[in-house]
Amino acid sequence: MTAFLVSTARLRMPAASLFTRPVNDIRSGFRASSATSRFYFQKTNNSTTSCHSGNRLSGRTCMVTGGTSGIGFAIAERFLQEGATSVILVGRSQERLQAAAGRLDVSNDHGNSITGTSNKVRLLVGDVGDIGSWKHELEKEMANVDILVNAAGISINNILPRSELDDISQVLRTNLEGAMLTSRALVRATIRNRVRNRNFAPDTKTPSKCIINISSLLALKAGTGAVPYAASKAGLLGLTRSLAVEVSASLKDVVIRSNAIVPGYIDTPMITDFTPGEVDRLKAMIPLHRFGKPSEIADAAFFLATNEYANNCILNLDGGLGAV
Ligand SMILES: NC(=O)c1ccc[n+]([C@@H]2O[C@H](COP(=O)([O-])OP(=O)(O)OC[C@H]3O[C@@H](n4cnc5c(N)ncnc54)[C@H](OP(=O)(O)O)[C@@H]3O)[C@@H](O)[C@H]2O)c1
Repeated sequence: MTAFLVSTARLRMPAASLFTRPVNDIRSGFRASSATSRFYFQKTNNSTTSCHSGNRLSGRTCMVTGGTSGIGFAIAERFLQEGATSVILVGRSQERLQAAAGRLDVSNDHGNSITGTSNKVRLLVGDVGDIGSWKHELEKEMANVDILVNAAGISINNILPRSELDDISQVLRTNLEGAMLTSRALVRATIRNRVRNRNFAPDTKTPSKCIINISSLLALKAGTGAVPYAASKAGLLGLTRSLAVEVSASLKDVVIRSNAIVPGYIDTPMITDFTPGEVDRLKAMIPLHRFGKPSEIADAAFFLATNEYANNCILNLDGGLGAV
């Protein structure tokens, strides 16, 4: 996998551009993992609390890119709590993946750890901005995936004239091309499975497959210092819409639903460098006067994953900010 280093000099932008923050702030001195290997996690900690438990995702295999942190992590946790048979977390670093898996809180209503969780969490090291270098591992894992969540994302805060080509490319590749290529891998895997199973009668009870893209309010509402990010997130909505139609036209006997979530400000590491003044100003602008919680985005992802009529469904969860 191609290693990269992000330059350290960034322009701090006004709070109006606040879906973005310098990558180097998130992971100081970070270097993308050169590992491409796949491995399996054994969960050891006992969880003590849970808001949700069920089995509506029983039998479903889910892949969550960006599963190590924030929104992706919350979705992975929720899917496990809802009985997903297997959740594959995708991220760039084996260490962060292992740490995330250790933080997963998967317990039933009685506070007991759900039996068998240890075999349910799988970790896949890969940079979604450089899928060519771990394409085979991705294809192999994708073979059984029913629900794909594209949550991996970065933001680099700068006005366009000062933006470096590498930074623009990195944002577009991570946020848009990555989602496109994981989606392609899911569609290809589905086609391969269909060819392999063509002699068997189709099981009409099989639930559809589903792709959930995590876009952003910046796809719809302008902000300063976030042109590549906004473009990448708007592109995700185009991807969502076009795929919903294309898959239906080209895969007659298999359903892959394509949906997106449009979050406003969500309390994750991506926005933790706001000054208290910026936070106050933003919360005053949001009709609900607070940032969203990752678990609230996970609620939406669960809805999209399970509602069989949700296709080209674009769910905005922004506390009302989109209406301002
Ligand atoms: N927080 C918000 O206010 C907000 C608002 C709108 C939309 N969003 C979107 O929500 C998604 C999740 O963001 P978050 O707020 O949860 O941020 P976060 O806590 O910083 O999480 C970002 C995740 O993306 C992964 N990631 C980044 N680059 C990657 C790459 N090249 N390959 C694979 N994984 C990569 C990170 O994993 P590793 O570092 O371990 O690789 C991490 O798990 C993003 O797409 C973001 O644009 C966030």
